[in-house]
Amino acid sequence: MKAVGFTRSLPISDPESLLDFDAPMPAASGHDLLVEVKAVSVNPVDYRVRRDMGPANLGTRILGYDAAGIVTAVGADCRLFKPGDEVYYAGELTRQGSNSQFQLVDERIVGAKPRKLSFADAAAMPLTLITAWEALHVQLRVRPDGSDAGRTLLILGGAGGVGCITTQLAKLAGLKVISTASRAESVAQCKRFGADLVLDHKLDLKAQLADAGHPTVDLIFSCAELDAYFKLATEILAPFGGLCTIVAPNTPVDLRLFMIKALRYSHEFMFTRSMFRTPDMIEQHRLLDAAAAMFDRGVLTSTRSQTVGTINAANLRKAHAQLESTHTLGKLVLEGWG
Ligand SMILES: NC(=O)c1ccc[n+]([C@@H]2O[C@H](COP(=O)([O-])OP(=O)(O)OC[C@H]3O[C@@H](n4cnc5c(N)ncnc54)[C@H](OP(=O)(O)O)[C@@H]3O)[C@@H](O)[C@H]2O)c1
Repeated sequence: MKAVGFTRSLPISDPESLLDFDAPMPAASGHDLLVEVKAVSVNPVDYRVRRDMGPANLGTRILGYDAAGIVTAVGADCRLFKPGDEVYYAGELTRQGSNSQFQLVDERIVGAKPRKLSFADAAAMPLTLITAWEALHVQLRVRPDGSDAGRTLLILGGAGGVGCITTQLAKLAGLKVISTASRAESVAQCKRFGADLVLDHKLDLKAQLADAGHPTVDLIFSCAELDAYFKLATEILAPFGGLCTIVAPNTPVDLRLFMIKALRYSHEFMFTRSMFRTPDMIEQHRLLDAAAAMFDRGVLTSTRSQTVGTINAANLRKAHAQLESTHTLGKLVLEGWG
């Protein structure tokens, strides 16, 4: 089968940083589905693994986490899906990825593809959706039933893949969403997905919040390097507020600053459940199915912003290079094999 992978960590400008190759066809066993991959999307984790983690012990390591496709075979322990089912999922960090014509994935982290979304629109969603959902509803404890309506959420980096779906989920929960973006296109992107107010993260955020009548916020979700924002967070969070970050700080943070206002600090890592085989890993299957129903009802919208081309090494190098700029809007998708 066709696949795209790498054997050495190289800059994305190097033509050998991602390579087309023939990989052996995998066989499904246990809880695994064998999925024929129709479309994939690219996330910062793809370039972080390529650049910083190397091939590990996977030989030619196949990247790619998000995918949408069709189940072609199931392992003996599978109960949730059967051959012919259309699915979407974000895969696992430590296994071969979705940049291959066929992929094995544990059914407990797979959802039924939203019927009303194309494969490309569905492939854009799982990784950022799981991240946003777990960050908002588990780590920041925002209740989806509207009982937190009116609370303020500051999203640092609102126009990227995670920011756009978090904004939609937060608005559905009734929160007031204040996003940050530094360019006219990214400001427009934040507003398109429902942000009530957009501030510029290249300027003084504390002053902009005060000018906008929000000297404090209840919750902060950081989709950007936290180091630059940590101290600010301790200043602008209201008592009993919460900060969740999906980007680990590069330097130690001083949690003592969170004491006096009784603030909460949390990390979200969407691969934790699959990596540690937690007893509740099936929650990600449930979450993806619940979200699929929301896409089909039209209350959630795919955040695909661009289809880069078919799935091959040259197009994946383009997508990695774009993401490495750190100024991508929404999600980049590749569809079909060519
Ligand atoms: N822990 C997890 O489970 C998890 C899951 C998903 C993602 N992540 C991480 O979360 C981060 C965001 O992911 P993503 O998919 O949303 O990435 P993305 O789509 O590449 O995000 C791009 C956005 O980031 C904004 N941005 C760039 N520099 C910023 C800064 N200094 N402050 C605030 N915003 C900034 C840009 O806005 P402007 O162009 O307007 O500057 C752009 O719209 C990545 O580092 C990724 O690795 C972690």
